[in-house]
This record gives sequence, structure tokens and C-alpha cells, in this order.
Amino acid sequence: MIQSSIFSVLYFEMTLVQSVSSIFKSKFEKEPILVIAPGRINLIGEHTDYNEGFVMPAAVDKHFVFAVAPNDSHQFNIFSKDYNTLISFNTSALKAGGEWQHYLMGVIDGIQQRGHALKGVDCVFSGDIPGGAGMSSSAALCSGFGFALNHIFEFNLTRLELARIGQHAEHHFAGVKCGIMDQYASLFGKKDAAFLLDCRSLEHEYLPFHFPEIEVVLIDTKVKHALASTAYNDRRAACEEGVSVLRKSRPAIHALRDASLQELELIRPFISEDVFIKCRFVLQEIHRTQHGAALLRVGDLSSFGKLMYETHWGLSKEYEVSCIESDLLVDIALQFPGEVLGARMMGGGFGGCTINLVRKEALEKYSQKVKEKYVATFKKEPDFYSTKLMQGVHLHS
Ligand code: GLA
Repeated sequence: MIQSSIFSVLYFEMTLVQSVSSIFKSKFEKEPILVIAPGRINLIGEHTDYNEGFVMPAAVDKHFVFAVAPNDSHQFNIFSKDYNTLISFNTSALKAGGEWQHYLMGVIDGIQQRGHALKGVDCVFSGDIPGGAGMSSSAALCSGFGFALNHIFEFNLTRLELARIGQHAEHHFAGVKCGIMDQYASLFGKKDAAFLLDCRSLEHEYLPFHFPEIEVVLIDTKVKHALASTAYNDRRAACEEGVSVLRKSRPAIHALRDASLQELELIRPFISEDVFIKCRFVLQEIHRTQHGAALLRVGDLSSFGKLMYETHWGLSKEYEVSCIESDLLVDIALQFPGEVLGARMMGGGFGGCTINLVRKEALEKYSQKVKEKYVATFKKEPDFYSTKLMQGVHLHS
């Protein structure tokens, strides 16, 4: 069943807030602040952020809720409702790793590295962003926790600094050399809008996304590729290799964003074919994202959807970050011309969700067909999430 009503979404947010808040009060016997931190979608612009290109994300109505209060000590006591685990540590015991607490430790470290003296907090959190689904649950985790600490201790960190702190946690604690898109989207999201983010200047332009006849549906392949972070770092390294050769002919090139396709052609004999293909995809994707923004500005969602399909096949055949499950989902979408305007794998890749722009009247028929074919091929059911574009990280009032 696709969750489609805004009322069920609000109801879910309320129940999550209530349960996190009541667990906090019974464990810590005081009043917390409550912070909502959303996950994100990305309409177009994949693997372009770390090449200083453009992306087009939006924050969505899947989120973490944090209840946090200071505890007048140097101890952090953090309870994850979803893992039913309480972790206590102080700032001399920050460690890298891939578990939720390491991301939060990375946030603490990032804040301290900016010269702020942190004291301890008590915290309870829970969320409904599916993990490993390409919706940036880790970015939401870091953004929400950083926002709460910033609010409580009045550090006056900007949203951009909080995004950087989240990225610091990913790079130095989780070992993923991600770009800035996910953290930025979680922090800067706006209701009923996506935004075009220039990942060099870090300026954004909100693009109203108000198409009442369209549902933005995520279809979760439920594939979680164990090597995703290594492969992600490898793609980034291929882009950097391309840049280092491009710079020999034009030192002003600092990132792939600065190069043209012609310049890339010129260095083709001096790089591997694989590096060439990866870099070419990125240049095309940066261009596609700018083109996509122009189409959204005039409300041409049908042409926009075609660009999403182009992105998908580029990610699949050239950048090689898709998987057979995502490819099948996009193939099925293509059998619904005019009803599914666009579909593609979303996020870092190697599984996770596809994002689909579906006409509401075709929703039932489309999801039935997807389910049928997916189950017949992979012997498991995909999950469907209907998403609304929402406000970024905020205090619950
Ligand atoms: C992950 C990263 C982002 C971005 C996307 C691909 O979500 O965290 O920074 O690179 O992959 O577009």
C-alpha cells in the first residue's frame, strides 16, 4: 500500500514525536527540545556534488526525531529507540566506525574542531527513513544532532556550517568521501520545493515543485550493496584522476565542473577509457541538471522526466553505480509512457531506491505491475514510499 495522504504523514510525524518525547521524559526526567531532521530525495544531478557541479535535491517527509537536553556533565547519553540501545561516552572517547554512534561522535568532533567547547547531553532519537535506501538517513542523523547541539549551547553555527560538520562526520568517522548534497538538503529543504544547488558557490535557488497530479514515489529495491562506500570512493578517485590530467593542459581546472567535453576529448589518449567514461558522464550530468532546472522553471515536467531516464542509463552503463534491480524498475517505468514521466536510480547507487514521477491516476496500476514483475524476477517485494517535499531540519514547536 502506498502511503499517500498528507494526514497519515502528519499523524506519523506526531506519533514519532510523542513517542521519542515520552521515552526521553521517562528515562531522563526533564523537558527536552525536539528536533525534526528529514531525509532527502534528489530529482537530478547524481555524483556531481563532489565535482563541484549542480544537484537538485529536496528534503522529504521521512525523518529522525531527536529529544535532547543538557545534563551539566561531560557525558553524552544517547538512546536509539530503533536499536533499543543506550550509548554513553565522553569527548575523549570519540571513535570512527560505521554504527550510528560514530556518526554522532563525528558531529561532536566537527563542532569541537571549530573551537566550541561542548558539554554533555542526554538524547533519545528515532526515525522512519529507511537505512541504505539512498535517502540519506546518515546525513539526517548528523544534521539533526548538530542542529540540536547548536541550539542548546548557542554556538551560532550557520546551517552551512552544520552541513559541513555532517560531511566531516562522513569523511572522517564513517570513511565515505561524500559531497555536500545530502547534508545541505536535509538542512535547507523547503515545503513544496526542490532546489538547484551550486556545489561550488554553495548557493541555491528554490524551484517550486507543485504538481498536484503527480506523485513522487520511491521504490526501494531493498538491495544494500556491502561495497557501496568503497565503490563510491573509487568513483570519486576516477574523477580526481581525470582532473589531474586536465590540469596539465589548463591549470585553472580545479574540478570536473571547470572542464568542457572538448577538453576531455583532448586528454582521452592519456587516461584510461574507464576514467574517460566516468568523467564524461559527470560533465553531461552537470549539464543535464542545469537543463532540468530550466525545464522546472517553466513547469515542463514531461521533458524533465526524460532527462531523469537519461541520467539513469548514464549511471547504469557509464558510471556503473546501478544494479539489475534498479535497472528492472526503470525498464518497467518506461512501459508507462505519459503515466510515469521519469524514473531513475537515486543517490550513491548500488541498490537503494528509484525515484519515479507518476501520474496519480496511474499509481495503482503501476505499483501493481512493478510488484508483479519484481517478485517474479527477484523473489522479493519492493517497498513503495510516496513522498512530500518538506521543510529542512527544524525545532518541533
Ligand atoms: C551520496 C553522497 C552524496 C552524492 C550522492 C550521489 O548520497 O552522500 O554526496 O555524491 O551519493 O549523487
